[in-house]
Amino acid sequence: MKNLDSIIQNARAAFAAVSDSNALEQVKAHYLGKSGQITALLKDLGKLAAEEKKIAGAAINQAKAAVEAALNARREDIRQAALAARLAEEALDVTLPGRGEEKGGLHPVTRTLERIENLFASIGFTVADGPEIETDFYNFTALNTPEDHPARSMHDTFYLLDVQGKVAENVLLRTHTSPIQARYMQAHVACYKHLETLPEIRIIAPGRVYRVDSDATHSPMFHQVEGLWVGEAVSFADLKGVIADFLKRFFETDDLQVRFRPSFFPFTEPSAEIDVAFMGGALKGRWLEIAGCGMVHPNVLNHAGIDPEKYTGFAFGFGPDRLTMLRYGVNDLRLFFEGDLRFLRQFA
Ligand code: FA5
Ligand code: MG
Repeated sequence: MKNLDSIIQNARAAFAAVSDSNALEQVKAHYLGKSGQITALLKDLGKLAAEEKKIAGAAINQAKAAVEAALNARREDIRQAALAARLAEEALDVTLPGRGEEKGGLHPVTRTLERIENLFASIGFTVADGPEIETDFYNFTALNTPEDHPARSMHDTFYLLDVQGKVAENVLLRTHTSPIQARYMQAHVACYKHLETLPEIRIIAPGRVYRVDSDATHSPMFHQVEGLWVGEAVSFADLKGVIADFLKRFFETDDLQVRFRPSFFPFTEPSAEIDVAFMGGALKGRWLEIAGCGMVHPNVLNHAGIDPEKYTGFAFGFGPDRLTMLRYGVNDLRLFFEGDLRFLRQFA
């Protein structure tokens, strides 16, 4: 049957002309689909006499098998071609030179934080932690900071928006690490309230803090390390001794002046800022404030459930970014947070 032969030829040519499997299935429909040419011939068989039907039916089925075989062969070709293309794309040329491996290094501020942790660990301090998104209560209220204190203002503090875009109530990015003091004291009291005498608290708490600040010695995100020592008869003299000793060990020099400048914090009384200056080197003679400190205010102890008649304590909050500036002689603190590898590589 000439007609059948040409259908087979045409189908083969049409299959060969497409090169992706979706197009191939479309072409298949012309021949083998519901209204395809072969299907139509099979439908017409009914019109023939019995004897003719037998012969024509066998011929059409043979043609159908030939078209199906051509289709399957083309399907396999396309599958193979796709596989080969993928392999070529993913091929590894093992003869190419390597990309090299860059050595990482600790960020200079991370080095400082680790150094501070180690130095304080050596005199019995453990490391405590707290959330960066803090509640108004722990950041201010528990620290004896009244509603109208300027630190609570929008100019100084990053507040958060709720899903409706309104300033979320009661949560903010912590402005200092001092809320960790309040959290730790509360948890400590809860843990040991069955004891007659509260075990000593001796912690440092490093972390990121946030303020609306930016100049050579201020960054909007910076670090602090909180320190807290609460016990029976802990005094301001202990505070001075601990700080002076720490600074000498941190900078590995005695060539350092330390000054406790009277100041005010709502959560300590008396309070001081700690300034340091070097007697030599690149930053010679320049005083830089590196910490706030003081004796824990009785209201703060009360808030945590600690009897201020029986226990006293001191607290401090270091600016480790400033300590890093001093240690390495860097004159702009914001350089630490710009992510410029040319700068950071110098410390690795
Ligand atoms: C405080 O934040 C008090 N919470 C410290 C404290 C703790 C006092 C415990 C008493 C008891 P102050 O705002 O001074 O204090 O910040 C402490 C230190 O953080 C500063 O001395 C300074 O070294 C550093 N610091 C403050 N603001 C910035 C800033 N924007 N960028 C970098 N360092 C900063
Ligand atoms: Mg200060």
